[in-house]
Amino acid sequence: MVAIAENVQHRLTIETVEIAPNTTAIRSLDWDRDRFDIEFGLQNGTTYNSYLIRGEQTVLIDTSHQKFRQLYLDTLKSIVNPKTIDYIIVSHTEPDHSGLVEDVLQLAPRATVLASKIALQFLEGLVHDPFSKRAVKSGDRLDIGKGHEIEFVSAPNLHWPDTIFSYDRQTQIIYTCDAFGMHFCDERTFDEDLEAIEADFRFYYDCLMGPNARSLLNAMKRMSELGNIKIIANGHGPLLYHHLDILTGCYQNWSQRQSKAETTAGLFYVSEYGHGDRLVQAIAEGITKTGVGIEILDLSTAEVQEIQELAGRAAGIIIGMPPTTAVAALAGISSILAVVGNKQVVGLFESYGGDDEPVDTLHSKFIALGVKEAFPPIRIKEVPGASTYQLCQEAGTDLGQLLVRERNIKQIKSIDANLEKALGRISSGLYIITTKKGDVSSAMLASWVAQASLQPLGITIAVAKDRAIDSLMRVGDRFVLNVLEEGNYQELKKHFLKRLLPGSDRFAGVKTQTAKNGSPILTDALAYIECEVSSSLECSDHWILYCSVQEGAISNPDAITAVRHRKVGSYY
Ligand code: FEO
Repeated sequence: MVAIAENVQHRLTIETVEIAPNTTAIRSLDWDRDRFDIEFGLQNGTTYNSYLIRGEQTVLIDTSHQKFRQLYLDTLKSIVNPKTIDYIIVSHTEPDHSGLVEDVLQLAPRATVLASKIALQFLEGLVHDPFSKRAVKSGDRLDIGKGHEIEFVSAPNLHWPDTIFSYDRQTQIIYTCDAFGMHFCDERTFDEDLEAIEADFRFYYDCLMGPNARSLLNAMKRMSELGNIKIIANGHGPLLYHHLDILTGCYQNWSQRQSKAETTAGLFYVSEYGHGDRLVQAIAEGITKTGVGIEILDLSTAEVQEIQELAGRAAGIIIGMPPTTAVAALAGISSILAVVGNKQVVGLFESYGGDDEPVDTLHSKFIALGVKEAFPPIRIKEVPGASTYQLCQEAGTDLGQLLVRERNIKQIKSIDANLEKALGRISSGLYIITTKKGDVSSAMLASWVAQASLQPLGITIAVAKDRAIDSLMRVGDRFVLNVLEEGNYQELKKHFLKRLLPGSDRFAGVKTQTAKNGSPILTDALAYIECEVSSSLECSDHWILYCSVQEGAISNPDAITAVRHRKVGSYY
């Protein structure tokens, strides 16, 4: 985990901006990343966006994270008399948006909460006093005067089953909470600098939205029926305005690609329980890397038919253990057991909610039905941290790789034999990339490495998307390129090629030193070079990373680099 001292004061600021007539954005700016969370892989902080619309009646859309409590409430009071707030729209109940709903309700006692039916159920657990509420769904409208008519769109699974979008016909602004967001903190309210935000926009999509590509496509279809959209007022990061078409086009393309995946895994869990949500995110990200599509269902809210349809169709089943008291979720699991068969694979994980249904009993039931284990049940003994998320991600990748193994072999066999041999004549060196971020470390044997620039000195590396190290090799991440020595590399090569169980220590039994950038240097390598990822280019099943190099050294000036000669170009 990234070391943060207890008394670190994070930079928290707040900005209010008129984004359209009678419409104010209240953006809580959280400048520092303070946790290694799955979707916080990049290091540009985040924002929590809330909005105020003043027609003849006043509407507040979402609030902020608890850490902004005083700042947010003071700001809200400075721009509106909270007693005059008529409605609070809760787009989604995850605490980064709804963490202050209870506080706002105390200041705005006459306000009615508008949210999806599921969100209202979740809110009842978060807000202690009774409050006025009304469930809304697609097609419902709210006229607050001065032309502001708000139409609601159900957008389940973006990112929980509780999500709604709200579209103001007057200003042509749609409020989408997590969808179309990004973890990027900047004083600029809008998305004018596409280059600055695109990596975060993509990363956020991959982590939070990609696993729900079908839901996203459905929501985008409903959005297209609303009329013109001038601004997407999201819940995180800059609002989409200048590059709205490009960025929504990206969502469309990425989601279509995801939803057309030939193989699908179904992930079932209870979103409002324990640490299930983050764990699911990590597993889903690991699966997505392998090109396997993923669909997520909340066991406590999905219909039995929906659960069975997905469980019957999916090649892989992953289940996050629900609480023993969750009757609907347990019935959902029974319905999964009724439709699975021996051509499917399964992975189970504990949710660490304090009252998880036992993992072993369910595991035995699946095995008895002939369902193969994709990864050993993930048992969580302490509050999940970065290494737990890494374990989950690796487990997801293992499951995905298992599902696509045969298809990949078939594809390799279909390559023209002469072409394959010719391509194999491209030779390369042999390297091991090592990296450490917080308490998470990883390594990868690499041969597709080349010097790419002189001023500044730079290299490129091709990294397969399904490599575990991929999540630690994003723009801004640092690592060490260890150069292996001809005639003296077999031990290291063998060690780093070994297949390990998810979450295992890659460096156990290997001599290392620590580079200035914190990554391990392999003591037995011929040379090391400290690098930083400057940019990345998506190339089908690989990322090409362009990296700047900072410093390096060689251990034996007379030795030469190990060279990799292949027979065919269809493998490394
Ligand atoms: Fe930004 Fe799912 O909350």
